[in-house]
Amino acid sequence: MLIKSAEFICSNTEVSKLPEASLPEYAFIGRSNVGKSSLINAITGKKGLAKTSQKPGKTQLINHFLIDKEWYLVDLPGYGFAVTSKKNRADWEKFIRRYLTQRPNLQCVFVLVDSRHEPQKIDIDFCCWLGEKGIPFILIFTKADKQSGVKSDQNMAKFRKALLQWFEVVPESFLTSAEKKEGGDAIIETIRTINENFQNPLIAVDDENDYDEEE
Ligand code: GTP
Ligand code: MG
Repeated sequence: MLIKSAEFICSNTEVSKLPEASLPEYAFIGRSNVGKSSLINAITGKKGLAKTSQKPGKTQLINHFLIDKEWYLVDLPGYGFAVTSKKNRADWEKFIRRYLTQRPNLQCVFVLVDSRHEPQKIDIDFCCWLGEKGIPFILIFTKADKQSGVKSDQNMAKFRKALLQWFEVVPESFLTSAEKKEGGDAIIETIRTINENFQNPLIAVDDENDYDEEE
């Protein structure tokens, strides 16, 4: 396991109450029941760190986990949960979209997609929304253990093709199984690479002024 420590920090709905934005942050998002919380447990090696359920709609808040005391992994509520009332769905829209657009240390969003299915409009629409907002994202296909590798590859290729109708370049993608603990290491490696270039948004660097002073 590549992760040494993982600890739950807090649950929130308000951006103003989130932990200080001084560390790089990565969020897991996707349809309800796609396996966001399970994958967080699998890649951190901590069963029960994020709450999971067979029933969709388990995660309701923005949950921060501090990894190796160096970066945050964030578990978010899922979208597209049919039983949720209209009011709940509107609330989801508001606080999640606010979080995704206003969090200055958010380096990248991981969009989780069920590898068993053909491309779903709701996932494509969500990727397009991220694209419109200029929020970088990476694709994670989940539940690879549920069908053959060939089927997963086909569905991944179809999803990428569907995205190409909207994007010039399709982001990186990973195939994972939380059940078999597969695919997590590559995600951690990608996060570590991005972490190397992190600049704390709370430390305002005004290069231009520095330059003037030196002149
Ligand atoms: P919400 O919080 O409701 O949005 O769901 P979620 O995306 O966090 O899903 P969660 O991790 O709670 O998992 C939903 C169900 O899928 C649970 O019953 C998990 O055991 C199951 N599951 C998740 N990942 C995998 C996987 O890789 N393989 C298999 N076979 N089942 C999985
Ligand atoms: Mg969850």
